[in-house]
Amino acid sequence: MSRLFFGRLNKLNQHRSIYQKECYNLMPTTNQWETFFDNHAPRYMQNTFTRNTLAEVDFLLDVQQPAPGSDILDMGCGTGRHAIELAKRGYLVTGVDISRGMLAEADKAAREADVEVEWVQADATRFVAPRLYDAAICLCEGAFGLLGTDDDPVQHDRAILQNIYDALKPGAPFMLTTFNGIAKLRRLTQDDVEAGRFDPVTMVENSDQEWDLPEGKKLVHVKEHYYVPTELARLFEQVGFAVEHIWGGTAGNWGRRKIQLDEIEVMVVARKEK
Ligand SMILES: C[S@@+](CC[C@H](N)C(=O)[O-])C[C@H]1O[C@@H](n2cnc3c(N)ncnc32)[C@H](O)[C@@H]1O
Repeated sequence: MSRLFFGRLNKLNQHRSIYQKECYNLMPTTNQWETFFDNHAPRYMQNTFTRNTLAEVDFLLDVQQPAPGSDILDMGCGTGRHAIELAKRGYLVTGVDISRGMLAEADKAAREADVEVEWVQADATRFVAPRLYDAAICLCEGAFGLLGTDDDPVQHDRAILQNIYDALKPGAPFMLTTFNGIAKLRRLTQDDVEAGRFDPVTMVENSDQEWDLPEGKKLVHVKEHYYVPTELARLFEQVGFAVEHIWGGTAGNWGRRKIQLDEIEVMVVARKEK
């Protein structure tokens, strides 16, 4: 059973497994990632990058060292692969995601695993936490860097970080993995700039791409914000986080290690200042 425990809202929603947080979303959203993940959700766990969840959870617990039974926020939780594994290990987990399709898969998986996780449907840029958490994760581009068509790249990602910061208790740890901008820069060409597919000023890639997905080849409108580590650190610090480490962070290859220039993702290990 999934759990819902937002006081009065808990009672209102006690027969609903996914709490749809319209109360926090005052404006309707148009976000192509929401549509993409709604459609992709049933096949998401067939992606090879999802195969190392157990090792990833081992690693993040080793890094964050949350006390037993801590309250953990998983922003952009997707199908809940980390959230459910954390719940199996006795943590209280809230998973937030914009995609109802992804959350439906998460809820199904939590029931199958017989664990309780609180699923919240919300846009991470507008999420207002109802209480303070002991730790937070935002993994594998869980909202951060994934821009809706009309989103401003700076405001979008800053709002997500700010909402996570505001959701944490003083001194609480936060771990994020996002695209490695260095690798992207080594792949992108001047043709991409001239054709408007990549803007080196904003570090935003904006193009239609054919992706080879488990369900087959699909044309995907990609609008993504890339960061080099220095910029990531500055953004985190502007919001108030102390950045403890920036490591290589490609799914399936997490470790206390240097960034490989061509790897897909980097990891930020941070903490809300006391
Ligand atoms: C690549 S998946 C990562 C899911 C999960 N964290 C994992 O590691 O498997 C990205 C997720 O971010 C969610 N997402 C994208 N934009 C979002 C937003 N603005 N607010 C909340 N979730 C968002 C998508 O719906 C999707 O579930």
